[in-house]
Amino acid sequence: MMKTLCVAVVVLSLTSVCQPVSLACEKLLKPEDKGPDLSGIWYFIAMSSQSCWVPTLLNTVAWPSVRVNITSKDTPNIYNARHDIKIYGYCSNYSDTFLYQNNAMFDVDSDNAPSGEQEVLLQTGCPDCHVVKSDEFAGILVLFSRRKTVTAAELKEFETQTECLGWSKPQVFNSDHNYENCPLIDDDNIDASGLPTKFFQRLKNTYTEPLKCLAENLLYYPSVAYNWAQQGLANIWPF
Ligand SMILES: *[C@@H]1O[C@H](CO)[C@@H](O)[C@H](O)[C@H]1NC(C)=O
Ligand SMILES: *[C@@H]1O[C@H](CO)[C@@H](O)[C@H](O)[C@H]1NC(C)=O
Repeated sequence: MMKTLCVAVVVLSLTSVCQPVSLACEKLLKPEDKGPDLSGIWYFIAMSSQSCWVPTLLNTVAWPSVRVNITSKDTPNIYNARHDIKIYGYCSNYSDTFLYQNNAMFDVDSDNAPSGEQEVLLQTGCPDCHVVKSDEFAGILVLFSRRKTVTAAELKEFETQTECLGWSKPQVFNSDHNYENCPLIDDDNIDASGLPTKFFQRLKNTYTEPLKCLAENLLYYPSVAYNWAQQGLANIWPF
């Protein structure tokens, strides 16, 4: 029996015609075809992953705000991305360089040659968003926008994309993007005594998420759960 999905199609075409899931998915999983203007500020809106562990842990433990400022470098198709991250009122930042070509982004080595895995930009009906699909951590999908928050319909479309992939329900990032006057997290002099309390409060309020994730993994993705457990153990006991 074919399920129908209206919301995604409404977002894409502004009509209320329902289409079979497969058609909506076919469209949503295609690479973006417009040459996007990457430069400027982007906010991380939501994240999904092949395994729900990554976004669930990220959002339960840290619930970060993330902003990236992309600037083009002198070499064509080479960009610098400055990330600002805020966790419980503390900030951190890092910069990296990437190559953008054929709707995909690549890490680069010191000669600006592509290295590592590629991240592909997928179609989105949201006019000022990007959806980036990365193969890291067994597969990650992130929704970015020029706006700090997106509409419920835009978020729903992203959720449809994650359903098309059979990935986890999206976790929404923190939308507090004030990075001014925020102590750097790697600064030794900060008073971080309040952090454990804030962390446990957050965990208390969201503890059902890891449990749901555990249940989902064991019920639907036993092999993924097994691989992750193995990888995790291998990291702890590397012999
Ligand atoms: C983004 O980067 C540009 C170029 O370095 C800079 O002029 C601008 O102030 C930055 N914006 C923010 C919000 O950091
Ligand atoms: C991080 O932010 C600090 C303070 O604004 C700045 O001095 C430093 O250069 C930044 N680091 C990176 C990698 O952008």
